[in-house]
Amino acid sequence: MNAHSPASPATSIAFSADGPLNGTVRVPGDKSISHRSLMLSALAVGESVVEGLLEGEDVLATAAAMRAMGADIARSDDGRWRIHGVGVGGLLQPQAALDMGNSGTSTRLLMGLVASHAITATFIGDASLSKRPMGRVTDPLGLMGAEFNASPGGRLPLMVRGICPAVPIEYRLPVASAQVKSAILLAGLNTPGITRVIEPVPTRDHSERMLRGFGAELSVEEDADGARIISIRGEAELKPQAIVVPGDPSSAGFPVVAALLVPGSSVTVENVGLNPTRAGLYEVLRAMGADISFANERIVGGEPVADLVVRHSTLTGIEVSSEIVPSMVDEFPILFVAAAMAQGRTVMRGLEELRVKESDRIAVMAEGLRAIGARVEELEDGLIVDGSDGEKLAGGATVKAHLDHRIAMSFAIAGLMSRQPVVIDDMAPVATSFPGFAEMLTSLGAHRRVVAID
Ligand code: S3P
Repeated sequence: MNAHSPASPATSIAFSADGPLNGTVRVPGDKSISHRSLMLSALAVGESVVEGLLEGEDVLATAAAMRAMGADIARSDDGRWRIHGVGVGGLLQPQAALDMGNSGTSTRLLMGLVASHAITATFIGDASLSKRPMGRVTDPLGLMGAEFNASPGGRLPLMVRGICPAVPIEYRLPVASAQVKSAILLAGLNTPGITRVIEPVPTRDHSERMLRGFGAELSVEEDADGARIISIRGEAELKPQAIVVPGDPSSAGFPVVAALLVPGSSVTVENVGLNPTRAGLYEVLRAMGADISFANERIVGGEPVADLVVRHSTLTGIEVSSEIVPSMVDEFPILFVAAAMAQGRTVMRGLEELRVKESDRIAVMAEGLRAIGARVEELEDGLIVDGSDGEKLAGGATVKAHLDHRIAMSFAIAGLMSRQPVVIDDMAPVATSFPGFAEMLTSLGAHRRVVAID
């Protein structure tokens, strides 16, 4: 697969399984932790070393941007990444536009970093990223004093004019978004005084954990309503770190659901990060009757990690509580696939954020699932799925990935349980988060074939 080629018949792929999936696999490093490792290392004084970094296109976009702003970032032959940072406040003016590719996390977090430096940066991205809303970060960063020149609708291409010193703010998040929270905290790193983010609904806490690990003064309290109040003292000095990145629980969702669905399967996914703010999928699958056990539980780089031992299971539909959504916000496409083959009805609501991910994941999944014979009802904020009771779906359709890696991978897994092929028009986006996805699936016994489509 050539990840860089545009959509063409050569990248149209179908996956199938003619027997159980068996074996032990690993998934690449956690995407959220990988981005933050590079950004924080690039702001520390001295050499940080990162092991297990996700070498996907999204993270490489972050690396390229940090290099363009002065950091020295190199991959050693042993696979470790070595980063020499510029120090908080030391980012340099980039000489060209920062190309963020498909990566919303790179864009939003880096906008936070630029906002409190006296530099100007232009952010550009692919067609998917250029449709995504940026007002959610430009609003708070504007209150800190940064200026923005965005395309219509607050979208990319977008120019940020940072300011130093920026003004510390206290900001209550209007949407449950770790990206918005992190953008503000990262801007706060180089802002005098205390910058405070109030988070009514908890989201992934990697930024908090890692900022503390690098030596920033950061505290987390809870108010009377249970909201998290995160305070960071600016003008911090970050100390270089040795970081071990655990496997990505979002990527692990694909082999896990594959093993649950294909009869007779038994698969172990090793070294999966299970930070409670990320592990919602596994809780929901277990509530549906999934046989998933956590072996070899340990702490790696300050994050809980385990090997997931998964056996084919009869899944039963449930009503998924909307409170769990932030801890599995990226996992709904693959949960929809699991639900499509469960017994009975699965109801998922409170998913409005899915409409502004790499694609409109509610609409795109509903359309694709219907095309391959699943019974789904699209809601404004969710999806109702009536499962096939363990039967294969009809398949026999080509689905569009819409430049969305998780859509492409979800339909690859659906294809394993379809009577006719499920053809994915473009697998190239998978390289953003899961290089080696196809090889991982075939190592478990799945088949991959290239299909010519019109
Ligand atoms: C991410 C946060 C999530 C998630 C994205 C990665 C992060 O986005 O969808 O893939 O690393 O902070 P939101 O926080 O905007 O929901």
